[in-house]
Amino acid sequence: METLMLSEKVTIPKLRKMKVERRKIAMLTAYDATFAQILDQAGVDIILVGDSLGRVVQGHDNTLPVTFEQSLYHTQSVGRGVKRAMIVTDMPFMSYQVSGEQALLNCGRVLKETLAIAVKLEGGMEIVPTVKALTGVGIPVMGHIGLQPQSIHALGGYKMKGKNLPEARELLETARVLEEAGCFSLVLECVTAETAQEITESLQIPTIGIAAGPHCDGQVLVIHDMLGLIPDLRLRHVKVYADLHPIITNAVQEYIHEVQTGSFPSEAQTTHREPPLKIARSKR
Ligand code: KIV
Repeated sequence: METLMLSEKVTIPKLRKMKVERRKIAMLTAYDATFAQILDQAGVDIILVGDSLGRVVQGHDNTLPVTFEQSLYHTQSVGRGVKRAMIVTDMPFMSYQVSGEQALLNCGRVLKETLAIAVKLEGGMEIVPTVKALTGVGIPVMGHIGLQPQSIHALGGYKMKGKNLPEARELLETARVLEEAGCFSLVLECVTAETAQEITESLQIPTIGIAAGPHCDGQVLVIHDMLGLIPDLRLRHVKVYADLHPIITNAVQEYIHEVQTGSFPSEAQTTHREPPLKIARSKR
């Protein structure tokens, strides 16, 4: 099977080709240049500058406080670390819902002022006119259905979607309408595996799942979750690929100990002046 050359830039047609060829798409979040460079060099296909930054970077309980200017800033930072992956900016709460004009202006700024090539919008039927307006002027849109964290207060909590047939039918219909409106891809969040499979099989565009089972065309995780950086929050859908919290804690404790005992910095980290200064002994 042909594999993507790691030097080739990931584009929307390439994602579509990956779906046709049944090659899975790997998406992760990043919010700064250092992490973005690691993910890019490791070969991730899509880097999402998620509004999850509200939770994992800013320390809020949910994504609602994130502002558009903050997303723009983090997307600019991510862009400096990336050569190959596609960068997608998550549009924060109230940065595109107010009016079509607001959505066009803000999403346009993402493409003009950052290296992102697409935006992600949460929402169902109500965002169809916005998706049409954006894609109509050449702004690629990734949709996001199932659990929509920006509606957390209206939903009353983080619950699975598509658990029964009426819910599954509604999700499938929404997915089809968003594809028809011009979305190039859809995130399915907290959707039962069977419903996610039916949606994936009935769309031409790739689906990217999070807590949506194994049948989506791709998967996404929040980088802080998959690296075990937030031990108080272990979510069922997350696999911790590297448990970094204890490793970082140990490193910091060792550093503190060495600073306190004077063993850091040692000769290896010290620069001397040439020739050595002869310090005149003061006479007593
Ligand atoms: O904000 C985010 O990181 C997301 C992903 C979890 C899909 O929306």
